[in-house]
Amino acid sequence: MTQHVLFVCLGNICRSPAAEGVFRSLCPQVTTDSAGTSGWHIGDAPYGPMQKVAKTRGHDLSDLRARQFKVTDFDSFDLIIAMDQSNLEDIEAMRPIGSETPVRLFTDYAPQTGMDHVPDPYYTRDFDGCLDLIEVSAAGLKAALDLD
Ligand code: 4NP
Repeated sequence: MTQHVLFVCLGNICRSPAAEGVFRSLCPQVTTDSAGTSGWHIGDAPYGPMQKVAKTRGHDLSDLRARQFKVTDFDSFDLIIAMDQSNLEDIEAMRPIGSETPVRLFTDYAPQTGMDHVPDPYYTRDFDGCLDLIEVSAAGLKAALDLD
């Protein structure tokens, strides 16, 4: 059974903390964390505009702090969820020999959206659109994990 899920983006201040915040509301029985492939924002709280929009939807991200993805995450988590193809490739490049931990795109769980990545709102400034896609993907992930 999948009990430990890690969400990964580039900076770990917009998409992956939002994904973690939404998914932990939806599935409190699963332990979650998030990380960035970069170390640019280590120790930072989620980006202010992202926190603000998440809060209007009932997701408090204020306790989260950015950290960098590390090779031991392959052992610590049952499932690693990347926000885009670049994140996925950076994660796969660190996979230890013998590790079979699945790494999937978050949008794989939202085929009805036709999206193949979660666009980065740090650049697009579309925080609402990002959370729409994250909420649909989180619901799809919950269904895929067969959780109540
Ligand atoms: P995220 O967005 O990967 O969704 O956290 C970004 C946040 C910050 C930067 C890039 C992406 N940055 O260049 O600082």
